[in-house]
Amino acid sequence: MPIKKSMGTSAEPLLNVAVLISGRGSNFIALHQALHRRSIPARICCVISSKAQAGGLTYAREHNVPVHVLSQQALREEARLAEELLDCLNRHQADLVVLAGFLKKVPPAVVSAYEHRMINIHPALLPAFGGKGMYGRHVHEAVLAYGCKVSGATVHLVTNEYDAGAPILQQCVPVLDDDTPETLAARVLEVEHQLLPKAVELFARGRIVIKGRNVRIQPMDQS
Ligand code: GRF
Repeated sequence: MPIKKSMGTSAEPLLNVAVLISGRGSNFIALHQALHRRSIPARICCVISSKAQAGGLTYAREHNVPVHVLSQQALREEARLAEELLDCLNRHQADLVVLAGFLKKVPPAVVSAYEHRMINIHPALLPAFGGKGMYGRHVHEAVLAYGCKVSGATVHLVTNEYDAGAPILQQCVPVLDDDTPETLAARVLEVEHQLLPKAVELFARGRIVIKGRNVRIQPMDQS
């Protein structure tokens, strides 16, 4: 499905991006800052959080980004979660949904409503070190325990299976001999903060073409 675009105040169409978080929100903040700094034709239309205390919410409120905290009922019941997410995404006319450290499983009804328009950032090179339970520190511990020489970050399409959608962008970082989960996480996070805005920019500029599991990036329009 082609991405619907709403008109911004400038001549350029703006992509409405909803960001879903559960914690610190550093990827949301990096994205928000990059959209402004690099004049990417996209805006964050809302931040949806599964936790009222998520760190990113303070930043969102300070920058007038609409915030929605999911209700306790939505966190308990899948049907209610789907309803609340879809209601919020529709209300804010979201074109693209970005999962940035969102720890709830997105209900299938929402995944299918946003098929090819929902992306996630994962702190490893998928398909390695992904799947249920592979989040935060667990990922980096597993990479170190395996003895990997490289790790990295992946931005991928969201499907109903954890971390299994087609990759859009991936970038490596070295694993150093004296790495701890913390030092490796920090090196990967730096890359995440570059990769996620890049992916959103590609959507905003209509450069993503999805053919089955292959996500192609169209060359820049030279005209
Ligand atoms: C990131 O490492 C991201 O890859 C993963 O969750 C973490 C979220 O970090 N999905 P932050 O909340 O964006 O700082």
